[in-house]
Amino acid sequence: MITTKSIAKIKKLVGESRKNGKTVGFVPTMGALHKGHLSLIDKAKKESDYLVVSIFINPLQFGPSEDFKKYPRNIKKDKQLLKKHEVNLLFYPQADKIYTPDFSTFVQEKKISKKLCGKSRPGHFQGVTTIVTKLFNIVQPDLSYFGQKDYQQALIIKKIAKDLNFATKIKIAPTIREKDKLALSSRNAYLSRKERKESRAIYRALTQAKKMIKGKEKNPKIIIKEMKKIITKEPAAKIDYIEIRNAKNLEKIKTIEGKTFIGAAVYFGKTRLIDNIIVSKN
Ligand code: PAF
Repeated sequence: MITTKSIAKIKKLVGESRKNGKTVGFVPTMGALHKGHLSLIDKAKKESDYLVVSIFINPLQFGPSEDFKKYPRNIKKDKQLLKKHEVNLLFYPQADKIYTPDFSTFVQEKKISKKLCGKSRPGHFQGVTTIVTKLFNIVQPDLSYFGQKDYQQALIIKKIAKDLNFATKIKIAPTIREKDKLALSSRNAYLSRKERKESRAIYRALTQAKKMIKGKEKNPKIIIKEMKKIITKEPAAKIDYIEIRNAKNLEKIKTIEGKTFIGAAVYFGKTRLIDNIIVSKN
């Protein structure tokens, strides 16, 4: 595996691979790699000939009171994992080379990004779409991979790729879960033992919603009420949102039909966790 901080070197190496007829796969990350990232990397490895991973903790997507400073960093372990998973090229840029002092251009999706997490974390998705656009321009991948756990993020990235005619195809891979079904996230490391135990309630609530939909309940309000009951039983839980929406565009729905997004954002102590499931048929 080649590791580089240099934008010019990434462009050169990827350019050479493409000239040799290789398909370029790309997995952007913020490091602190876990099995969720590794499943994206394995999928990308299978589907492309030359695999690029980036590790960059993007300051632009963290609000002023969020966890940028304490976000987990473990580059040594990350590099070992990436080597083991046969990544060809690691892009590990410095922040001042990505955001030069005179940086003044931002990419903003204006519809999907205003909802759900966009409401609770103003500016977050603009930070994501700006860095992802930059990374796409640097790496020029054929295929790019994102996890379903960040479903709204993945939809927004699909949308900017379509609206702005990016050449890359966006692939969304399933959420990877712990044995007790908590969705894997680098932020799980912040949870105390008690919070970790309580956090299982999110998946219990999502499963209850799915069960109700399969049992022909069509009213999102009734389902959300049940989900809230499950989560608020946990003393450390504070609900940010629980939503049932159209899975295509995250628009509000009055009646459940077709592909439906069931999502939750819940604080356990100071840690905000998100999770979702997509239910396809009634
Ligand atoms: O999902 C993430 O880890 C980040 O939002 C991403 C896509 C790497 C952009 O910084």
